Amino acid sequence: MAEPLKVGLAGLGTVGTAVVHLLERGRDKLLARCGRPIEVVAVSARVRGKKRDIELRKFRWVEDPSVLATDPAIDVLVEVMGGAGDPARRAVEAALAVGKPVVTANKALLARHGHKLAVLAERHQVQLNFEAAAAGGIPIVKTLREGLNGDALTRIYGILNGTCNYILSRMEQDRLAFDDCLREAQRLGYAEADPSFDVEGHDTAQKLAILASLAFGTKVDPGAIYVEGISSITLADLDAAGELGYRVKLLGVAVKTEAGIEQRVHPTMVRKDAAIAQVMGATNAVTVDADGLAPVTLVGPGAGGRATASAVVSDLADIARGVRTPPFGRPAARMTAVRKAPMQRHEGGYYIRLLARDRPGTAATIARRLAQQKISLESIVQRHETAASGASQPGRSGAPVPVILITYATSEDAVRKALAAVRRDRVISGRPQVIRIEKN
Ligand code: HSE
Repeated sequence: MAEPLKVGLAGLGTVGTAVVHLLERGRDKLLARCGRPIEVVAVSARVRGKKRDIELRKFRWVEDPSVLATDPAIDVLVEVMGGAGDPARRAVEAALAVGKPVVTANKALLARHGHKLAVLAERHQVQLNFEAAAAGGIPIVKTLREGLNGDALTRIYGILNGTCNYILSRMEQDRLAFDDCLREAQRLGYAEADPSFDVEGHDTAQKLAILASLAFGTKVDPGAIYVEGISSITLADLDAAGELGYRVKLLGVAVKTEAGIEQRVHPTMVRKDAAIAQVMGATNAVTVDADGLAPVTLVGPGAGGRATASAVVSDLADIARGVRTPPFGRPAARMTAVRKAPMQRHEGGYYIRLLARDRPGTAATIARRLAQQKISLESIVQRHETAASGASQPGRSGAPVPVILITYATSEDAVRKALAAVRRDRVISGRPQVIRIEKN
């Protein structure tokens, strides 16, 4: 039999143990596909004595992941410890520096140091594979790196965080409160150790940074991303969106514009009949737009041990077969710094929910401020919830009533200026809720 590919596995949490199981279960299939077996020979993790559903005795234990990384008995390092700093960074760099290929699921590491690691891998002529780092079980990295080489990509957008999509789906479908849905997502194992990383959009931003780099040939730069999370989204927004034919999703979007590459993460209204709007629960989806090509959408599991292990094992299979591709789909020297399009220049439709004082002149004031910024309205709806509850007389009390505006395409700058003026006019209470509408 051909020589096995010998794996050193750093990290034995949910993903690491799932990789062990999948390699064992898929042994014959992998042998048939790659022409050689793939075997874990040595492992490293923070705590040796922890209860795990794998037989640890089968593998040689190495205390320090950086020592494992350069172990002469391994052919490839799998890094599934996570975290942008050490020990993950040191172990990955150590392996690459001695000419050992690396497979990592570490989005934080790639987002922070992706370009430097690609340079290192290239210098030592080894693979750096990271399919698991973005959208888990969806092979989007391979699609961008190898599948669309002849195409000029114009936009990539997607649901990249299972926790947020789970929360928004449960809120909408089962009318549950945000906090209850988040607790469920944590119980089901989708959420990060610090769930604010999910709900405030940072997890999506790290994944988007990696995908944008693959799509546009720019150096990974999470700092170039505008980020807003979903914690301000209420059932009232989801209901209003539904009535208007939309659904709210947390999207990561990277798009080529004349001003540069716009990268943004924020709650987004998408038309209910769009493919991405159908994606519910913890499922992820990514759509790629390219010149002259109908949009390509990939949908699948984005979180959890099994989905992530699928991507890790696939990356290992490529190494076992001797597949060589630059980590970001082109030589590192050809990757350029991101020319960041300012968020202020973003153009699109907007959903705006205001709590307006219910008295004569309010609508006229709001309309005037919007007109001053040349914002044209597609619809305006005022809801008399206070009147329905019998608490006050509509149009007299000055009590706040929700007003929902949908604008035609305008700019972020115009919306921000108009709403700042409306707030100064004191015809609304609280902060306006603004949700961008994405064309799809
Ligand atoms: N917390 C992440 C999510 C896990 O919810 O998608 C996968 O990166």
